[in-house]
Amino acid sequence: MDRFRRNLCAAAGAVLATIAGFEVSAQEARPWSDTSLTPDRRADLLIQAMGLDEKLQLVRGHFGATMKGLPPPLNAPPPPGAIGGAGYEAGVERLGIPALQESDAGLGVANGGHLRPGDQATPLPSGLAQASSWNPEIAYAGGAMIGREAASKGFNVLLAGAVNLARDPRNGRNFEYAGEDPLLAGVLVGQAIKGIQDQGVVSTIKHFAANDQETGRMVLNAQIDEAALRETDLLAFQIAIEAGEPGAVMCAYNRINGDYACEHDFLLNKVLKGDWGYRGWVMSDWGGVHSTVKAANGGLDQQSAHSFDREDYFGAPLKAAVMSGEVPPARLDDMARRILRSMFAVGLTEAKPRLPIDQAANAAVAQRAAEEGIVLLKNQGDLLPMASRLKRIAVIGGHADVGVLSGAGSSQVIAFGGSALELPAKGGPAAALFKMVYHPSSPLLAIRAAAPGAKVTFTTGDDLAAAVAAAREAEIVIVFAEQWQTEIQDAPSLNLPDGQDALIAAVAGANPRTVVVLETGNPVTMPWLDKTPAVLAAWYPGARGGQAIANILFGKVSPSGKLPITFPASEAQLPRPVVPGSELTFTLFGGNDPPFDVPYPEGSAMGYKWFESKSLKPLFAFGHGLTYTRFAYDGLEARGGQTISVTFTVRNTGARAAAEIAQVYATPPSGGLRRLIGWRKVTLAPGESRRLDVVADPRLLAAFDTAAPGWRVAKGAYSISVGASSTDTRLSGSVEIAAQTLKP
Ligand code: BGC
Repeated sequence: MDRFRRNLCAAAGAVLATIAGFEVSAQEARPWSDTSLTPDRRADLLIQAMGLDEKLQLVRGHFGATMKGLPPPLNAPPPPGAIGGAGYEAGVERLGIPALQESDAGLGVANGGHLRPGDQATPLPSGLAQASSWNPEIAYAGGAMIGREAASKGFNVLLAGAVNLARDPRNGRNFEYAGEDPLLAGVLVGQAIKGIQDQGVVSTIKHFAANDQETGRMVLNAQIDEAALRETDLLAFQIAIEAGEPGAVMCAYNRINGDYACEHDFLLNKVLKGDWGYRGWVMSDWGGVHSTVKAANGGLDQQSAHSFDREDYFGAPLKAAVMSGEVPPARLDDMARRILRSMFAVGLTEAKPRLPIDQAANAAVAQRAAEEGIVLLKNQGDLLPMASRLKRIAVIGGHADVGVLSGAGSSQVIAFGGSALELPAKGGPAAALFKMVYHPSSPLLAIRAAAPGAKVTFTTGDDLAAAVAAAREAEIVIVFAEQWQTEIQDAPSLNLPDGQDALIAAVAGANPRTVVVLETGNPVTMPWLDKTPAVLAAWYPGARGGQAIANILFGKVSPSGKLPITFPASEAQLPRPVVPGSELTFTLFGGNDPPFDVPYPEGSAMGYKWFESKSLKPLFAFGHGLTYTRFAYDGLEARGGQTISVTFTVRNTGARAAAEIAQVYATPPSGGLRRLIGWRKVTLAPGESRRLDVVADPRLLAAFDTAAPGWRVAKGAYSISVGASSTDTRLSGSVEIAAQTLKP
């Protein structure tokens, strides 16, 4: 090597040594950046380097956007650095702690209303639609897709994971949730959370807990006994947290047995952090904090968007409380450590490239979710699937000419391409804030494309006579009926609004070959059901909803969804025929609103368990859903012992490929409530059969014993039913189970 080269090498070596030396010293200075350490250890190390004000900064949240049209301080500009999501917490640059940029929600990167005007994202079908797929892979893929979009837009927290159980089929936010069963909801929402977090974005799980109606949500007091709460609402959270390990839990607005959820020592400290060993952080819902000391000591780790609360509770008052020892300094450390721990666990401190959004691929994820989530409720005489050689098709109502409806509120997504239509809401407190938004995926255009030789007419449905005339002319009629649901208010009734029941009845009277496609946020009653041979529940079907509906109608895709929520025949069948608090008037954030109780005397007997225990016949049962083939069940083998294991065969006996969701229910020896203990979704070609296994989580066989405390499985014979819905039992058996008590 010549001298020049030798010198060059020496110089390069010195530079490298300097860089390496810097790396070593940086590592020494920031030992928490060592990714080989556990998230807990890294958070412990980092907390030691933080000053009091830095810890306080982490636990005090800001609104990250501007609420135009609202009074100060809500209309204040967002803090510098916030990119326009619902929440923002400043980072600590000195220590390499990133800011938290939080965006709603679970159905896509929400950008409706005040948030980031002009922004667009891919809307998934509603939570109920996704839950109707009963397919954990669909839930995971949806979570991964919206997590990727969130990351591309610069967000590192998604306010997703909505898993409040449907105790009332009029709850205005059921469309964001996953139905009435704790196992189904918990498994699916857990997978959605996992999908989000695998993209390096923290997901919340919300709203913890018993936020089961919107009427008076800021002030209501849910009354329910502990065992029932553990077996229902809390079990859904527990299962989802175990599967998804969300970085944060959002506590709810309401009170439970007297205390507000965001200062609920029992709920947050005893159950969540104690019994379940939850290691992430608890953030408040926006406007859900009511105190400093009680909240901090009661388990709240972060006040979100403090301007939404009556006071800046986790600002100066928290500092004073820590200084005086009312909130122990160790508790503040715990609050900040939990946030840091989730940042490390999910990878928020790792630099990641901001990838472009693949809109076509993401829309395909939404379409698949819609296709698996559409439920064929009725199909008399196999009216569906429709033949593509039809000549005259009448499409009526539901703005099917332009797009598909979506649910409103903080979860509102404005789709790529912009809304097809935005209409003012009719009545209710939400009208001041939210609109009826239609995503640009026209069912009419998709139907026309599927039946190229047909004359496909469209009539709005506003003019009954015109709709009837169009129906008379057609070989087949497809009526689109809609029910808009939104955060802040519940459905006034189970009826379809705006005279649509009369429209459907008149159209079906004019043409007996009438198919009803429901775009609803909740179950609805169907006074016209005897007159309509076919009904599809399409829910809010998301970015490519129109295409998905057409694919199901024409049989390009066989329906495979099943109901995750019971469709009651009337309000009179419900535990609370009238939504509690309906007679009162509420303000947006509670203020001095009248507190009131919502008793849940049905306890664990919610949803299908309520209907069964009261021998009520619903309109459509939990788990119900038809397809274009038939399935036969046989060969049940059931084993007992510590839990129930079953094996059985499902055979496609028809002429089309389709998927079946085979469900397994068990009843304890005491004759208690029959519960879903597992399911399998399987796609079978004509004539094909498959042996399927289900092994139950023993907690689903147990009653919660508050004295133990724990899950107590009674010894004895458990009866088992396997079938196509909660009421369509095809195979039955029974097994002996041993007594045991499992940790809470
Ligand atoms: C909702 C939450 C949402 C938050 C932030 C609240 O009103 O209840 O679900 O994440 O607002 O927008």
